[in-house]
Amino acid sequence: MNLGQHFPMISTQMNGKRLAYLDSAATALKPVSVAQTMSAYLNEHTSNVHRGIYSLSEDNTRHYEVVRDQVKDFLNAAAREEIIFTKGTTDAINLVAASWGRTNINAGDEIIISELEHHANIVPWQMLRDEKNAKLLIIPIKDDGSLDYQAFEKLLSARTKLVALSMVSNTTGVITDMAEVQRILKNKNITLLLDAAQAAPHFPLDVQSLGADFLCFSAHKVYGPTGVGVLWGKQSLLEAMPPYQGGGNMISTVTFEKTTWNKLPEKFEAGTPAIAEVLGFGAALEFVAEIGFPYIEKRDQELLNLATKKLLDIPTLRLFGTHPKKVATFAFEIPGLHPQDLGSVLNQEGVAIRTGHHCTQPLLKRFGVTAAARASFGLYNTEQDIDQLVMAIKKAQKLFL
Ligand code: ALA
Repeated sequence: MNLGQHFPMISTQMNGKRLAYLDSAATALKPVSVAQTMSAYLNEHTSNVHRGIYSLSEDNTRHYEVVRDQVKDFLNAAAREEIIFTKGTTDAINLVAASWGRTNINAGDEIIISELEHHANIVPWQMLRDEKNAKLLIIPIKDDGSLDYQAFEKLLSARTKLVALSMVSNTTGVITDMAEVQRILKNKNITLLLDAAQAAPHFPLDVQSLGADFLCFSAHKVYGPTGVGVLWGKQSLLEAMPPYQGGGNMISTVTFEKTTWNKLPEKFEAGTPAIAEVLGFGAALEFVAEIGFPYIEKRDQELLNLATKKLLDIPTLRLFGTHPKKVATFAFEIPGLHPQDLGSVLNQEGVAIRTGHHCTQPLLKRFGVTAAARASFGLYNTEQDIDQLVMAIKKAQKLFL
C-alpha cells in the first residue's frame, strides 16, 4: 500500500538525508487528514463545545461527541459513557489512581505492576502506595522480555486489589499474553488496568473480551494529535468513582454549600477540552479504520521479521526483548558504543530513533544497562528505512569501534 499521499513527512529529509522515521513508539506521524480537520476547526469553525446554543457550537459539540462514538467502536466498548477523554495515557492512569485508587485502596492493600512498565504506570501507583500505606509488588520479567506468569500468580494474595499492566512494552515491543493474565485473574475480585498506549497502534482492542476494568491509550501513538487520550472504564466503576478534577462541565449544580456532579462521561471532563485535538483524533481513527487492522497487523509483522533478521546480522548487536510475540519495536545496544553516540551518527544519516532510558529505568536495569537505542516502526515504514538504519549503525561502528 502506498501511503505517501497520507504522510508527506516520509518523503522529507533530515540533515540532508532521506528521513527514516523510526520513532513511532514515541509519537506516530500523522496523516494529512488530521491536520486538515484541526486546521478547519481552528480557521473556519472555532467555538467551545457543550456550552453554546448557536449553530457553530452545536455543530462542534456534535462532532466532538461523534469522536467519542468512534472511540467506543475502536475499543468495542459497551457504552459511550465509558469513554473519557483525557490528556493522554499518563493522565488517564493518574485519573484512576487518584479517583478509584484513593477510594478503594487502603493500608496494607496490594497493587501489582510489572518490571517492564513505563514510568507512567509505576509512579502514580507509588504515590498512591505512599499516601495509603499500601504495597506495590512487581512481576519480574524473563530474559526474553516477557512477563514471568508463574511469578505473577505467586504474587496474588487476599490483599491484591489492583493489577496494572502494559499490553505491549514501549521499550522492547514484547506483547503481554492476555490469555495468561485472564487465566491468572479469573474469578478473583481484582481490578485490572491495561496500559494500551503501545498496543492501540498495532492490533485491535476489544474491551469486552480483554477482562479489564480500565484501559487507556493516547491519540498521538495512533496517528492522531498530541494532548488527547482515552480512559475507558466499566460504567459501574466510573459511576461509583468521585470526580478527578473540579471545574466547568463536570458539575450538575453548584452552590457555595454543595455541588452535584454531572453524569458520565462529563463527570470526568472538567474544563474546556482539547477540541481541535479530539476532532483530529477522530480523523486519525477514521484513517485507521480505512486502512484496517488486517493490513496494519500484517505490515507490522513483515517489518518485524525483516528488521529482526537484518539487525541480528549486525556484529555484536544485542536486542533487548527477543520473545517472538512482539510488535515492530526494537531496543538494542552495541557494546562499547554509547546509545547517545549511536543516536548522533544516526541523526546525521537521516535516521530518527530514540535513545536513553525510554521512561523504563527499572526495565533497563533488569537488562543491566542504563540506556539503549530504540527503533520503532509505523505502518508507513519500508524496507528502505530498515536498510538505512542498518547502514547508519554500521557507519557508527566504524567510527567509534
Ligand atoms: N512513551 C513514549 C515512548 O516510549 C514517549 O517513547
